[in-house]
Parts: sequence; C-alpha cells; structure tokens
Amino acid sequence: MREEGVTTQELRDYRPEQKTWQGRLTFIMAASGSAVGLGNLWKFPYVAGENGGGAFVLVYLACIIFFGIPLLMAEIGIGRSTRKNAYGAFSILAEKTGASKYWRSVGGLAICTSFLILSFYIVVAGWCLYYFYITATGYFNVPSHSLDKNLTGRTFETLLASPTILIISSIAFLGMTYAIVTSGVVKGIEKAINWLMPSMMLILAALIGYSATIGNFDAAVEFLFKPDFSKLTFDSAIIALGHSFFTLSLASASMITYGSYMPGKASIPKTAFAVAGIDTLVALTAGLAIFPLVFQHGLEPGAGPGLMFISLPLIFNDIPYGQLFGSAFFFMMFIAALTSGISLMEPTVAWLEQRFNWTRKKSAALTAFSLWLVSLGTVFSLNIWNSPAFFGKNLFDALDYLTANVFMTLGALATAIFCGYCLKTNQLKLLFGEESLAIPAFRATMKYLVPLFILALALTSI
Ligand code: PFF
Repeated sequence: MREEGVTTQELRDYRPEQKTWQGRLTFIMAASGSAVGLGNLWKFPYVAGENGGGAFVLVYLACIIFFGIPLLMAEIGIGRSTRKNAYGAFSILAEKTGASKYWRSVGGLAICTSFLILSFYIVVAGWCLYYFYITATGYFNVPSHSLDKNLTGRTFETLLASPTILIISSIAFLGMTYAIVTSGVVKGIEKAINWLMPSMMLILAALIGYSATIGNFDAAVEFLFKPDFSKLTFDSAIIALGHSFFTLSLASASMITYGSYMPGKASIPKTAFAVAGIDTLVALTAGLAIFPLVFQHGLEPGAGPGLMFISLPLIFNDIPYGQLFGSAFFFMMFIAALTSGISLMEPTVAWLEQRFNWTRKKSAALTAFSLWLVSLGTVFSLNIWNSPAFFGKNLFDALDYLTANVFMTLGALATAIFCGYCLKTNQLKLLFGEESLAIPAFRATMKYLVPLFILALALTSI
C-alpha cells in the first residue's frame, strides 16, 4: 500500500538507529575516497590542460566553493537525517514536508546515474590495472625507445581494440569492488577504506616529491596557477561546473548513501569542507605530479584523454626509476578508482536491500552482474560497435556525456530546489545545528544561486 510519497514498507524499514561508521574520520575518509578518483587523477589534469590551465582552475575552484560544498552539505544531510538510500531518503523527506511524492524520482535518477557511471568507470579502471601490469613488468623499458610516440600510441590503441583484455581487466576491477561491497558497510567498506586511502595518499606524496626533484616544477606551477583569461571560453565554464559535480560525487546518490552511515554527532559543514578540501588538494597535487614531467620532456599539456596512457609512458624510459614511478602511478590510479567504485556500487545495493528486504549478498551479486552486462556496451563501443550512433557519439562517450553533463546537472538542480523550497527550517537545523547563522546563506544558495547559475549555463549552451 502506498501513502503520500512513501510506501508503508519504507516507513516500516525506516531505521534512524541504523548502523553507522565508527567516527567522523572514517566518514571523511570514505567520502573523500568516493570523491578522489579517476576524475582527479585522470580527468582533471587533461581537462585543465585542454582548457588553458590557470584560468580554468580558478573557475573550477569557484564552482567547488559556491556550488559544490553547499550541495555536498545538502546531500550528506539528506542521507543522515533519513538514514536511507537516495530513493527512500527523498520519499521520507517529501512525506515529512508535505511536498509531492514525485520528489523521490530525484533519488531514483541519482541511483541510475551512479549505476551508469560505474558501468563505464570499471572499464577505465580496468585500463589502469592493465597499465599497472605492463609497466610493472617492464613493457615500457625498451632501450631503443625514447619518446617513441608510436609505441605508446599503438599500445593504447591495441588495448582499446581488444574486447578480451578490456573484459578481463574490467571484471578484475568489478570483482574487487563487489568483494568489498558485499562484505558490508562496516566489515567491507570501512575496513577497506582505512587501508586504501592512506596508501593512496602516501604514493601520491612520494610521486610529487620525485616529480618536483627531476621535472620542471616551476613550469607546472605557472601552468596550473597563473590564469590566462584569454584561454577561457564559455564551454570551459560549463566543463568546470560539470566536473565540480563529478569530482565531489554529487547528484549520483553516493554522498546521500554514505551520509546515511555518518555518525549522528559529527558536524556536516565541517565534514563537507574537509572532503571538498581533500578532493581539491588531490586534484591539484595530481597536476603537480604530472605536469613537471610533461614540461620537462616537451610534451603537450593539452593532449586530452591520452595524456596518462599515451604521453606519460613516453617518459618512463627516460627518467631514473621510471618503471617504479610508472607502476606506482598506475597503482595509485587503481586505488583511487576502487574507493570511488565502491561508493558508486553502494547506492544500488543499499536501495535493493532496503526496498525489497534482500540480503546484502543477493543485492550486491545482482548489482555486480547487471553492471557487468551493461559494461559490455562500453567495451564493444570501443571496438566492434564503434559507431557514432548516439547523437554523433559512440556509446561510451554518450554515457559519459549523459551522466556527467545531463543527469548530474538535472539532479543537482532538483536537489537545490528541493532544499531551497521544500525543506523546513527545522530540517535545516538538523544539518547545521540549532543556532547556525549558515542557514539563511544555505537557503539562499539553494533557492537562487545554484538554480540560476545552472539555468543560465544550460540556456546559453543551447
Ligand atoms: N568522484 C569520482 C571521481 O572524481 O573520479 C567519480 C564519482 C564517484 C562520481 C562517485 C560519482 C559518484 F557517485
């Protein structure tokens, strides 16, 4: 039976006392693990490179501060105050505030977004695993090859052309993600995150130290931090906004679901600032680990998606300990992808568990199997089905565009409108504390700033 905005089943399952993580630090690590991923290590450097460096970085930082952090607070708060998956959370809040029950479709869309992102994320994460393997086993250590772009270009093309390698590497990544998620929120995710996040940070710190010592660090700093506004286009502003949502894992149910496991006492604003701070720091640090080498070796910073997989391997043979540097680099990308992959699988698993009362094992197994099936679409769109059948894009590019640009923007817009217009002040106090002065500022951001900015960008881009 269905009541206003929520099923009786969901009301019965509503468990504010649901198990939470041990402390605020675990939540920060898990949420930063979700935020820090291929978006930071792979996408940010090449997107910044393609869009002229410093000026783009500035717009990106503004998007994080004005839109990303408030939305992050909202999503964590929506999860924590309901202790439900994204669909259930919107159902309950709509019911409590007397808003239309259809607001729950925003939660539904967010769960679909996380599922679709993961279906291609596992393929790209598979590339990292494959590159880790070939770099560690000395493939790029060909004595005669020095800056032989043909070799590294061909290696990447061969990988994309081979469904077998793509399927094996993505299954390996999916299998690890599944193994962690199926073991549970505390025994699986919390335990894994407590190991993975510190390891990733250590590797990143070592890489940047190394890169600063042997590369052209000054050129990298100038490129990333000295804005040249003549290079900034309207398109770059849209890309910066979309990327700020993607990198903070917004509008894709991950932060709502993780928020539902957040301890009751931790401060949401402080936590959101910490997560966004770590995420931004890692993105900039990744740039500072890569660009010194890129400039030192006269490579093109705007090389696009191939920057990591074609340009970077060119220098492994030329720098001291290149094999070690290269394998550590791809291993770090793999860890970052894994902590994000977990957070992309959890929303669907939590929804299946809570909505249908299934066990975690059954929910995780079904999610992993369907993900694998859908991921075949991405795999084949890189080779045997590579046709621009979807508005001039192949399936992989179309999925990437649909999720990161359309679904996430719509989801963020809807979440802002819901928080700005439907949530009552009492509910905002749950987020910010009784006397917080942040409530009016938060309300105004959600009501006017985010919707107007997104609408203006959308209209101008049309
Ligand atoms: N934030 C991740 C990255 O930067 O790679 C990607 C991501 C994870 C997007 C989780 C969305 C999400 F829900």
